[in-house]
Amino acid sequence: MFYTLKQLFWSLLLASSIVIGIFVFIDGSEFYKNVNMYMMIFLLDIAIFIRFVRNWKYISMPYAQNLYGRFLHNTFLGLRDRRTVFLDLFLFKKSVKTSSNLLEVVYKKIGMQRFALYYYNFIAINKEQYEKNAEKIIHYLGYHQFTISVEPIFRKMVRLVFYRLPHFYRYFDVINFIQNPYGIFLGLGKDGLIYRDFAKLDHHLIVGETGAGKSNFMHVLLFSILNRKCFKSVDRIYLIDLKGGIELKRYENINKMKFVYDIKKLDELLNDIVDQMNIILKSLREKNIRKAQKYTFIFFDEIGAISSYPDKKLRESIFRKLALIAMQGRAAGILIFAFAQKIDNTILPSIIVNNLQSRVLFKTSSDHNINLIDLKENLREKFTMEIQDFQKGRCIYKDGDTSEKIMVQTPYIDDVTLNTLINLYEKNYPKLCALEST
Ligand SMILES: Nc1ncnc2c1ncn2[C@@H]1O[C@H](COP(=O)(O)OP(=O)(O)OP(=O)(O)O)[C@@H](O)[C@H]1O
Ligand SMILES: [Mg+2]
Repeated sequence: MFYTLKQLFWSLLLASSIVIGIFVFIDGSEFYKNVNMYMMIFLLDIAIFIRFVRNWKYISMPYAQNLYGRFLHNTFLGLRDRRTVFLDLFLFKKSVKTSSNLLEVVYKKIGMQRFALYYYNFIAINKEQYEKNAEKIIHYLGYHQFTISVEPIFRKMVRLVFYRLPHFYRYFDVINFIQNPYGIFLGLGKDGLIYRDFAKLDHHLIVGETGAGKSNFMHVLLFSILNRKCFKSVDRIYLIDLKGGIELKRYENINKMKFVYDIKKLDELLNDIVDQMNIILKSLREKNIRKAQKYTFIFFDEIGAISSYPDKKLRESIFRKLALIAMQGRAAGILIFAFAQKIDNTILPSIIVNNLQSRVLFKTSSDHNINLIDLKENLREKFTMEIQDFQKGRCIYKDGDTSEKIMVQTPYIDDVTLNTLINLYEKNYPKLCALEST
């Protein structure tokens, strides 16, 4: 309170002095008679006053939350050491918008909100302080529904982006805006629609408790891959469902897609994939190329099911091949997308887990799962929401390439949408011959 009043006083004084200065400079000795000068000072002070009243909580926030540094320095002639507080000044509040107005309308409709506060310090700004106090800041300002992201701007400025992702939206709400066809669409994040570059894809491990939204997210990923531009770079897509479910079976009539639900067939399939991988790797070595041109995807719904099979030999044989693919597949363009409710050493050997570098964490209360995204504490501070409280479709996506972690709300795909899209792709990419579907 005291600091804010002091800042108000200094702002008024500074503004008045500047106006007087300008008038003296222009008018010389005549300035006392000039009524306009008083008028200007008055108007400017009123404007400053209004700004302070309207932004009171933003201006006083750094002091209320102790977000300032104290610097030791010598006074004139070095007679006495003094500690001075260099205040973090509130600059302005700004809404965060994309360049597309139409998209902004959609964001508004589905309940996505974003705005940013900018702060400045003459000496240096302490970004970590803001990150550490993210939760307190949210409580102090009363933005309980929001998540905060702290972004430094040079050394002396910081931008606090407050964002609220929608709790629910449908795939069709955003499908028309998916502008970058050569990318995998993940959902909505702080920066709006989030994509992963198709050319830089790696293996994915997706975990979360039952009903968290993993299978739904798998459909979202598959539709990006089936997108015309991406599909050209696809060699094969294997869909493996050992739970005997029908979730993935509906894709089986689309070209390049193959559905496997039997563990023995899986073992044979992995043999073929490993052989194929070795051929690709050999040809890459011969041609001195670092990465294959085409992708083969292996989608596993519930990879944990392998460990529950009693036949130890078969399990080990599968894990051995999966480990090979996890280690060498990326260069050969053979990518694993593994979905699981829980991951630990008993469910999936760590050699496989360690090589699935992109990770997606849906709602979970298992520490084993949370550790997959590492830095549990760090995470909590940054996202100000506990993973065990995530609603359906909410996840944290860790990009295996950059290690960046972002919070994403994935779109909901209902059965009607799912079947409509699958029909569309069946027409676009029919199976070429009967052999393909075996
Ligand atoms: N992005 C989403 N937005 C809203 N609701 C969702 C979303 N994803 C899934 N749901 C809802 O949650 C239900 C369960 O989702 P899903 O089948 O994807 O869970 P799961 O994680 O695959 O569970 P399991 O591990 O049991 O297979 C869906 O039927 C749907 O109603
Ligand atoms: Mg599922």
